[in-house]
Amino acid sequence: MVRGLRARRRRTGEADPLAGRAAVEALLDRPLRAGAEPAAVARLAALLGEAARRAGRAGESPAVEERAAEVSALARALVVRVVEEPVSVRISGWPPGFGAAARARLLGRPPGELERVAPAEAARLVAALDGLALGGGRLRVEVALPPDAVLPPLSRRDRAEAGRRRRAPPWLPHLDEQGRLSLTPRPIARRQAAWLGAGRVLDPFCGCGGNAVAFARAGARVIAFERDPARAALARANFRAMGVADRVELRVGDGVARLPALLRRWPDAAVFVDPPWPPGATRWAELAPPGLEAALAPATAVMLKLPRALDPRTLPGGLERWRLRYEFGAAGPGEDAGLGRVVKMITALRRGVA
Ligand SMILES: C[S@@+](CC[C@H](N)C(=O)[O-])C[C@H]1O[C@@H](n2cnc3c(N)ncnc32)[C@H](O)[C@@H]1O
Repeated sequence: MVRGLRARRRRTGEADPLAGRAAVEALLDRPLRAGAEPAAVARLAALLGEAARRAGRAGESPAVEERAAEVSALARALVVRVVEEPVSVRISGWPPGFGAAARARLLGRPPGELERVAPAEAARLVAALDGLALGGGRLRVEVALPPDAVLPPLSRRDRAEAGRRRRAPPWLPHLDEQGRLSLTPRPIARRQAAWLGAGRVLDPFCGCGGNAVAFARAGARVIAFERDPARAALARANFRAMGVADRVELRVGDGVARLPALLRRWPDAAVFVDPPWPPGATRWAELAPPGLEAALAPATAVMLKLPRALDPRTLPGGLERWRLRYEFGAAGPGEDAGLGRVVKMITALRRGVA
């Protein structure tokens, strides 16, 4: 076939992109166009076989040239090429409160600069962000490609990075499995404490005490509840180990049931709410234990730690009652670290009585 195409080029002067072994091999390595007809694929295979047979028998001849040109045309119609020129990327589905700074942080570039993106970078954006559940919706990454082109596959480095388990060592010494999984990463716990401010903080879902430690270290006096006695013992050990035992009072029991009495006694206390996250929860009602919303109503400051997929429009009183912050952190198990930093959770804060 190659000989046939070369002969045709010599005769007609018409260059054919397949007139060389390397070009044919490159073409055969390319993916088939989506929707390529099975019958056309079979025809291509038959033509290739026949062209090769004839070329072997007859050497350079018009029949081989003709057949080779036919193969070439069909092959080009069936296969797609990997795009090499910069492409334009469009990302939609940004959730409420995910402003320009957060977008730039997630993308690793200003969001306005998506007009001319290198193909490998576009492939990384698609792999890392397309379909990501964020703030009650899903991000959608669309790439404008020429009709016959596809994005390059992810580089080996990016694929390895995507699957890598980057588990930051836990920052508290005493943890059970549940406590380790739900421990707020230290930089985020510190930011939350700085945002909520010193004073009195009620923490009705203490766990092993990550946030309680951060609040105490930021100068707050903390009253915490944990209903699991074994986990409460771990939290106490953490308060001692982190030097905050004198600033945190931990009680074993139902923190939701005790909130109304505590708020009557300390009406200015801030409440930090970190209930267990049921898998796949996207609405506040799926997260809040019975009675919590009513118990929070009289509080003058409430901070919620929420899964990143949660829709903030479902928060009590609606979006306008809350200030939101999307918290970034290092990628966790199974998360794509291709873009370096990922959104770990949402912090919502309201001040003033509901
Ligand atoms: C997500 S964890 C808290 C993690 C903590 N903020 C940290 O950074 O270490 C939630 C904890 O609340 C506890 N819990 C759930 N419902 C409770 C309730 N009604 N009263 C007290 N504790 C509760 C669970 O046992 C769990 O340990």
